[in-house]
Amino acid sequence: MEVIIADRPENVLADIITDVVRSGPATLGLATGSSPVATYRELIRRHTDEGLSFADVRAVLLDEYVGLGPDHPQSYARFIREHLTDAIDIAEVYSPEGLSRDPDAAAASYDELIGKVGPVDVQILGIGANGHIGFNEPTSSLSSRTRVKTLTEQTRADNARFFDDRAEVPYHVITQGLGTIGEARRLALVATGVGKAAAVAAAVEGPLSAMCPASVLQWHRTATVIVDEAAASRL
Ligand code: GLP
Repeated sequence: MEVIIADRPENVLADIITDVVRSGPATLGLATGSSPVATYRELIRRHTDEGLSFADVRAVLLDEYVGLGPDHPQSYARFIREHLTDAIDIAEVYSPEGLSRDPDAAAASYDELIGKVGPVDVQILGIGANGHIGFNEPTSSLSSRTRVKTLTEQTRADNARFFDDRAEVPYHVITQGLGTIGEARRLALVATGVGKAAAVAAAVEGPLSAMCPASVLQWHRTATVIVDEAAASRL
């Protein structure tokens, strides 16, 4: 595992993605949440100002709330359109079907789809305060596949800022599993701010453990953790 401490983590991550996108047809794994937003802004800038083209790129999203359709303001499908994909010339973006009547079946077919459009060349990741990646909460099996998960109250509270009311935060999600995520050729986790310092320390220096799902980066062949000084402060 490589740990990079940078003043502008978004530039380091944007460089990794740019290299992959320039090298030919690629599949990107996209994350939502606030952590990758600065990187997406930088990629849009490179597309607009420097002609970086995503025409040969397909993307798969990590996760989605059960019960929210792609046009719901808090759905991750909409988040990624608003923060990245509507502003670039990307070929295709796939996400789990949050509105499916059968979320378990939707999760299984999304896992199959990733197998077909993958392998993912770079999987972008944020990290939750409790060490979750995607929506793989602590105790998630290290080899898990895409499936329905129940959110912890901490994660519901953390994500409530995106909703008008905490009661609106869904209880269930469809998330790529830790095993699914681990099939990407490269994992690139970005974290900023002191609020992520404990989770980053547990992921990088703690035991490989289902109690800290992000610790799976330790056994991946090509994993990069990109942090600012504050997020690195407990390393
Ligand atoms: C959500 C997402 C994760 C993200 C995490 C951290 O739970 N499912 O993919 O990493 O939030 O979010 P933020 O980057 O906003 O702190």
